[in-house]
Formats: sequence, structure tokens, C-alpha cells
Amino acid sequence: MRRRHFEALRPLCVVCHSAPVAITSAIRETGDDVLEGIAACTNGECLREYPIIDAIPIFVANIRAWLSANPLQVLMRDDLSPEIESLIGDVLGAGSAYDTLRQHAGIYADSPPLSFDVVPDGPSIDIGCAVGTSTFALAKEHLTVGVDFNFAMLRIASAALREGRMRYARRRVGLVYDREEREVAGSELIDFWCCDAANLPFAPATFAYAQSINVIDCVASPHDAIAEIARILRPNGTAIIATPYDWSSSATPVEQWLGGHSQRGPHHGASEPVLRRILEEAGLQIVSEQPSVPWRLRLHDRSTMEYAVHAVTARRT
Ligand SMILES: C[S@@+](CC[C@H](N)C(=O)[O-])C[C@H]1O[C@@H](n2cnc3c(N)ncnc32)[C@H](O)[C@@H]1O
Ligand SMILES: [Zn+2]
Repeated sequence: MRRRHFEALRPLCVVCHSAPVAITSAIRETGDDVLEGIAACTNGECLREYPIIDAIPIFVANIRAWLSANPLQVLMRDDLSPEIESLIGDVLGAGSAYDTLRQHAGIYADSPPLSFDVVPDGPSIDIGCAVGTSTFALAKEHLTVGVDFNFAMLRIASAALREGRMRYARRRVGLVYDREEREVAGSELIDFWCCDAANLPFAPATFAYAQSINVIDCVASPHDAIAEIARILRPNGTAIIATPYDWSSSATPVEQWLGGHSQRGPHHGASEPVLRRILEEAGLQIVSEQPSVPWRLRLHDRSTMEYAVHAVTARRT
């Protein structure tokens, strides 16, 4: 985490929401980049601490629940030889947390991001950035922060930013993966932070541009994630919300889905009208829509999945 980005974005505590966070300890640092350290809430009644690991600050409110659910994401090592990684993958087997992490990171690292033709005129945020391919594409002139809840993916993004090379495991078949590496044009403008899309550590009106690409159908409350986008955008700021409405109850309780249920209701189960209504209610005025943008994800050598994404451009009123 670059200190100057931290100072420009002035994060707020995601627990008490009443005070800024300060860097209280920089354990490892190069230049203005804090690689390992601690940030803490400045409210004396709260004092919540947030670790910075692998240059990624973890601004998560219920950090105990988050870390207990995902210890592997934070503690997984990435310095083992491909042979040992392969052996561990075989031993843990299909469906293990290790295999899921490798698979997901590889899918997003290896698939071209869905990019939109936007020219942000101020600080920008890429919400649910995964391994950061869309963040790298977005950052041209202004500070751009990629946020995600998955630390393992952010670690790949953070390493790519600092080393100029994206390194990941690319699934060939079953539990067989090949190490891949490709050049990435890093940028001093970018940082990656670990945050919950529904509880972002930013003051109202921090960003000129926000994008949430293929994320709102992956969060527990799409409604709260949209409210956060509206809150952190400046008046007249632009948001792009794109989604294939690929609802699953493992990510989002059915009651929270936007459409996708209640076929006998007024929208006959359609998701699009519900998204439009929620955006307008949140103060995000729809400017344009793309009804069906193809988005392809490579799963393994013999499988590619294609979605038809609904993309909405909206302006903060
Ligand atoms: C389907 S992927 C899309 C990734 C990327 N935006 C793209 O289009 O390739 C959804 C991403 O949202 C992230 N995500 C899920 N729940 C989240 C939350 N509550 N806060 C932040 N990110 C979240 C996942 O970790 C994952 O990286
Ligand atoms: Zn606090």
C-alpha cells in the first residue's frame, strides 16, 4: 500500500465508521510502499487494528470471521516448486479449498477482463477486481484502487503490480496445472486493498468513477453493494455495474437476489427491472445500457464459459 494513496484516499474505520485510520506500524517498507504493517482506527473508543500483508491492507470489519473462514488465502505460500505444488494439489484433491483458490485465480488471470471504454476524470475504484486485470486496464491518469474480498487473488494482483509480472497456475485438466507468467504494465497509480463491497473504508464522495463488473451476483447483499457505490461516488460521478445475474444461494441468499425468483410477480422473475429500480432508488441515474456483452472465462484446456452480461452506466445525482 503506497502511503501517498493512503493519504489521498483517507480511509475510514469500517467498524465504528466515525474516524480515519492511521498507519501505526510499518514493519517492512520500500520507498513509500508499506509491504507489511498495521493501520488502526484513531477513535480512542474503537482502536480497531487492520493488518497490511503483502502490501495489501485488510479493511474488513469482522476480521475474525473473515480470517477463520479463509486462513489459507492469507497463509498460503507461493514459493514452492511446481512439483511440490502439484503433489499438494493431488493430495488435497478436487473440491479442496486449495484447489478452489488455484482454479479461481487461474480463471480470472487467464481470461481477458471485461473492459469498458471509460476515461475517468478523478480517483477510480474497481470493486471485486479479482487478480486485477480490469484494474490494470482502467488506470490511465488517476489513482485507481482495486478492492476484493479474496486475499489470494489480491496477492497475485499485488505481486504483478510490484514485479511487473503476473504469476499464476493455469488449469490444464482436472488437478493438473501449469505455471504461467506474463508481463503486466504496472503503474504507480494503482493499489489493491482487501475490502467488503458492502462496507467500504471510504468517505462519501471519494471517487469520480466506480465499476463493479460481474460482482453483484457474488455478494451477500447486492442492495448494500449498490448503496455503497452511490455513497462513495461524487455527485456527477460515473458508475458501471455489469452482471450476468448468475445467482447462486451459496453466494447470495435467494431473498437478496435481484429477480431470478418469483416468476408470478410483476416482473415475471426478470432481474433487469429490479436492478434499474435499485440503482434509481440509490441515486444512480441510468445513462445507458448494454443488454448483452459477451464475457468469456477459460476454465481449462477444453472448456470456456460464456456469459451474456447486462451492463449499466449510471451517473450519481
Ligand atoms: C465473478 S468475479 C469477477 C471478477 C472481475 N471483476 C471480472 O469481471 O473478471 C467476482 C469477484 O467478486 C469478489 N467478491 C465477492 N464478494 C465480495 C465482497 N463482498 N466484497 C468484495 N469483493 C467480493 C470475488 O472475490 C471475485 O473476485
Ligand atoms: Zn473505529
